[in-house]
Amino acid sequence: MYKLFFRLVFKRMDPEKAHYLAFRWIRLAARTPVLRTFVAAALAPRYKELRTEALGLRMHGPFGLAAGFDKNAIAIDGMAMLGFDHIEIGTVTGEPQPGNPKKRLFRLVPDRALINRMGFNNEGSLAVAARLASRNPVVRTTVGVNIGKTKVVPEAEAVADYVKSTERLAAFADYLVVNVSSPNTPGLRNLQATEALRPLLTAVREAADRTVRARRVPLLVKIAPDLADEDVDAVADLAVELGLDGIIATNTTISREGLTTKGALVNETGGLSGAPLKERSLEVLRRLYARVGDRITLVGVGGIENAEDAWQRILAGATLIQGYSAFIYEGPFYARAIHKGLAARLRTSPHVTLADAIGADVRKKANAA
Ligand SMILES: Cc1cc2nc3c(=O)[nH]c(=O)nc-3n(C[C@H](O)[C@H](O)[C@H](O)COP(=O)(O)O)c2cc1C
Repeated sequence: MYKLFFRLVFKRMDPEKAHYLAFRWIRLAARTPVLRTFVAAALAPRYKELRTEALGLRMHGPFGLAAGFDKNAIAIDGMAMLGFDHIEIGTVTGEPQPGNPKKRLFRLVPDRALINRMGFNNEGSLAVAARLASRNPVVRTTVGVNIGKTKVVPEAEAVADYVKSTERLAAFADYLVVNVSSPNTPGLRNLQATEALRPLLTAVREAADRTVRARRVPLLVKIAPDLADEDVDAVADLAVELGLDGIIATNTTISREGLTTKGALVNETGGLSGAPLKERSLEVLRRLYARVGDRITLVGVGGIENAEDAWQRILAGATLIQGYSAFIYEGPFYARAIHKGLAARLRTSPHVTLADAIGADVRKKANAA
């Protein structure tokens, strides 16, 4: 049904307009108690075997919504209602900003991919913090807060910008993510170099601890798939050294390798996401797990279209997994299908619990070597 609807309606609309239209419907459904109860009951993860403990948090399932879909924290209940067990809001920047000029979001339908150069369009950390403070949750979920650098802030002042967002937002975050991997903010990815990343993560950690004394807010970093393998290792080592809680792998790629879509669309500037990202994201995840093992929680994201993709990420070392682009192509039953298929795979696997399955492929390979 959704695929037909996508072909007849969404595909003919400007992608960003379609996004906001879908967003409005989801929010409306979440505000209508009967509909919300009905949809949430149908789509929520309800498999005992998928109950997950990650980042010190108890979750009903490992699959969540990746950052970028709900930048301003306006549809948390709606997305939770659709069965995403954690919602990562943001990227939120220190100051509000409009993002890049439109058009800035493109669908590569034959590749089941998207290119975006949104440029962190968001209302800024003050406004988002106020919204989170007044939030009255009606659907249970875990909320991650993803923060990034304001475009006009020079790289040399980036730390202060992240710290400002941390001070405003950490209290509302079940976990906090330092995003240094979007290709759409000039210079942002330079912050992935360990000389820049060390002071940044240290300052954000201190700011979170200073602001939230009652608990330790888990801190993660989100990395790009375009990092060289040695740089992936360097981030992994730094994360262990700093006692970071997690790494999210990966953001969108600037690569255009292997696309089948014809025409000028593939040359649009921005980050590529969806199916073509699958292989590299999985590779980065495997590499991270081989390096850090169980010492750090890994979150797998990039090209996860179905339960098999999600299962492969678990076996490669992910404790949590996320998706964005495939939601556009698969529709409202996407999260439910992933949780359902994961539970089925776990039952027929040699692993007793989901925790046993995490990284099993990488461990097997290491033992065989
Ligand atoms: C339109 C769009 C906007 C995005 N915005 C953000 C963002 O603001 N912050 C972020 O960390 N990632 C952002 N992402 C990246 C996603 O969170 C995710 O890492 C990436 O799309 C790979 O997952 P996918 O293949 O399932 O889409 C965005 C992705 C898309 C498609």
